[in-house]
Amino acid sequence: MYSSSVESEIVMVGHVNDKGITELGVGLISVGWMGKLHSRAYQALPVVYPELRISPKLVHAADTAADRAEYARDVLGYAKGSTDYREVLADPEVDVVSICAPNLLHKEIGIAAAKAGKPFWIEKPVGRDAVDTGAVADAAREAGVATSIGYNYRHAPAVERVRELISNGELGRITNVRAVFFNGYASEPNGALSWRFKKELAGSGALGDLLSHVVDLMQYVIGPITEVSGLLSTIHQQRPILPMGQATHFAVIENGELGDVENDDYAAALVRFAADSPGAGAVGTLEASRVIVGPQCGLGFEIYGTEGSATWNFEQMNELKLAVNRTGPSQGYTTILGNSSQGDYAAFQPGPGNSMGYDDLKVIEAKKFLVAVTGGEQRNSTIDEALSDASVITAIASSAVDGQWHKVQQVPGATFGHSATGNG
Ligand SMILES: NC(=O)c1ccc[n+]([C@@H]2O[C@H](COP(=O)([O-])OP(=O)(O)OC[C@H]3O[C@@H](n4cnc5c(N)ncnc54)[C@H](O)[C@@H]3O)[C@@H](O)[C@H]2O)c1
Repeated sequence: MYSSSVESEIVMVGHVNDKGITELGVGLISVGWMGKLHSRAYQALPVVYPELRISPKLVHAADTAADRAEYARDVLGYAKGSTDYREVLADPEVDVVSICAPNLLHKEIGIAAAKAGKPFWIEKPVGRDAVDTGAVADAAREAGVATSIGYNYRHAPAVERVRELISNGELGRITNVRAVFFNGYASEPNGALSWRFKKELAGSGALGDLLSHVVDLMQYVIGPITEVSGLLSTIHQQRPILPMGQATHFAVIENGELGDVENDDYAAALVRFAADSPGAGAVGTLEASRVIVGPQCGLGFEIYGTEGSATWNFEQMNELKLAVNRTGPSQGYTTILGNSSQGDYAAFQPGPGNSMGYDDLKVIEAKKFLVAVTGGEQRNSTIDEALSDASVITAIASSAVDGQWHKVQQVPGATFGHSATGNG
């Protein structure tokens, strides 16, 4: 078991203006896909959640690619753009920081942000492995800064509803689960060899990049995973080389120079959940592939209980399939569209059945982060939870090497919002 969290007061930030609105200066490190998305989430927050009276101001963005720093200033609307992230952390007008750099840099930048006393919202999986994540967690606890992690799928209204149904016991005793992240982003064999395919830069492949989302989702909805048996494989062994900061991992390069893929394309695990969790004693299978043809952003689950079942997939994010009748005319699955009784749905749409999207999940994530750093409800995912997810990933990687079942090191501060008794 990891050592307990250092008990310290969390640093609160923000300035209340003469209208009673809390203003927060935002710093951004790395202006790639996620950097843009975090920026748009901050901008949308006062529109979606006016009642919070929180106003994020885009202050300072950095990216080693000068054109991306310029883009942040000239297009995204940051007041300043730099090519060195240290300038963002040293900026006194920056109250909170989004860290959207490649995994290799999460440890260095996460520790630097904590030492600068800046609460941070960091992208998953927080480093290349549990050692990196643990180092960031130690620094954040020591500095007492609030953290939030980019595990966005847990905010989907349908997912929040399933979590509630399980916590309330409405699906009965959870017996088994099948959860997957089948994503075709690397299904093109000439898809570029970005940092994601390099061990030194990314750590593992589909395991850390995609299965970590599945692990986080299952630990959030069902409860802690305690034991795993893992399996990894690499399907496309070589890819065309792509320099950092040019295009994304979706780029396709014909006739380029080839380099080796150093991590897994496919990852799977058999898992057991904790006996004292909302999903007490459940077992299941988790799978992820980045090279699959067909599914494209297929993060989904089937959760089976003695009284009912729930099925959801991000590709149909607004549709929750529920079975709560064993017999009678309404037996079997019923499809329920998004509605105001599910999570944060009502903040986005006044009536049921209006579809939400991926970007909206980041707005909810921004809200949970900024509410937590301004002293409100602590519903943000935390660095302790990222460490718990990383510990499951580490155990799966170890099991894939020796073929044995591995116990998962438990992280005391990682509650995933559940009480110690497993309810709530
Ligand atoms: N939550 C999600 O659903 C989700 C989706 C995609 C990516 N991610 C995560 O977000 C992170 C970033 O992924 P991305 O897809 O945005 O990557 P990306 O390749 O689009 O962007 C990475 C950016 O980092 C910049 N960079 C490289 N070195 C830097 C340095 N030293 N200082 C500052 N900037 C630097 C690059 O120039 C580039 O602009 C990763 O950790 C990834 O796992 C999360």
